[in-house]
Amino acid sequence: MKICLGIESTAHTLGIGVINSEGKILKQVQKTFIPEIGGGIHPRKAAEHHFKYARELIKEVKNSNNFNLKDINYVAFSQGPGLGVCLRVGAVIARTLHQTLNIPLIGVNHCLAHLEIGKLFCDAKDPICVYTSGGNTQIIGFDGGRYRVFGETLDIPIGNMLDVFSREAHLQHPGGPKVEKLAKLSNKFVELPYTVKGMDFSFSGLLTAAINKLEAGEKLEDMCFSIQEVSFGMLVEVTERALAHTEKNEVLLTGGVAANLRLQEMLKIMAEEHGATFYVVPKQVAGDNGAMIAWTGLLQANYRQFLKIDESNVLPKWRIDEIEIPWIN
Ligand code: ATP
Ligand code: FE2
Repeated sequence: MKICLGIESTAHTLGIGVINSEGKILKQVQKTFIPEIGGGIHPRKAAEHHFKYARELIKEVKNSNNFNLKDINYVAFSQGPGLGVCLRVGAVIARTLHQTLNIPLIGVNHCLAHLEIGKLFCDAKDPICVYTSGGNTQIIGFDGGRYRVFGETLDIPIGNMLDVFSREAHLQHPGGPKVEKLAKLSNKFVELPYTVKGMDFSFSGLLTAAINKLEAGEKLEDMCFSIQEVSFGMLVEVTERALAHTEKNEVLLTGGVAANLRLQEMLKIMAEEHGATFYVVPKQVAGDNGAMIAWTGLLQANYRQFLKIDESNVLPKWRIDEIEIPWIN
């Protein structure tokens, strides 16, 4: 049995998780930076937040009754993609633990971690993954030794679109849950741009139109309802095509926007029409968290994918399709 400690710090959340090779989470702690009302995530302020809480979180992990610090075999960290200044905080903590505990250091791709923890918790084998969050929106599937991105946003991520719309509507960050709640109060559809180009999609035209229509007097709940129907419809269309093309029989929804019940419902209906099983990552590991980094670290450790300190620079633009995946065949 091996144990890995994982550190997540790509954006707003500093998270530390400890997991064992049976997939049991032994500890999960986190602190999330919340921007002031009306503001987005300011990278430097988020990084300062992470530095401020790093010691406290490490202390909590140290005081766990489930394990001793000396039982930990590996330390993994989110090496990218994400905000450079935030990533660097996690990297510093990881390098420090690597040296003080004298254990191997592992650099994990954040998107890969969302997928792998989703597969673990849902017991999915080879799904089409719908990865929707504040910073990423991609339709991904495994093919020929790598995860391939079948479709992705051409501009802003879907969670970011929901957050910016909410900010314009004077709702508090994060916007996704607020939009979902208000959408439930309406079933009036207001026309908005639906943009799918090939296998990719775009949300910025939709965002601008929605803000304009809100300012022109459309009701907020009608706009929330319509934004969800249009943006989720785009995701479902591309996922359906990826599913049909690959003939896979599982769909896995992951990332922060996976919490949305309407998105879950739409994908489930589509998946079942294709005879595929629909899975959604459990809430506990849906948002950014350290446990997903730790779990992916363990998968990489089996293939001795360890980093020397001078190879541990952060990679803010690191794409999932650049990585060879030896643990799936
Ligand atoms: P990543 O670094 O992977 O891009 P992230 O930094 O965006 O992740 P997550 O916690 O994965 O962090 O996702 C946060 C996003 O999820 C926010 O944009 C938030 O509005 C959105 N979100 C959360 N709950 C819901 C919901 N119920 N409906 C829609 N969106 C939601
Ligand atoms: Fe994330």
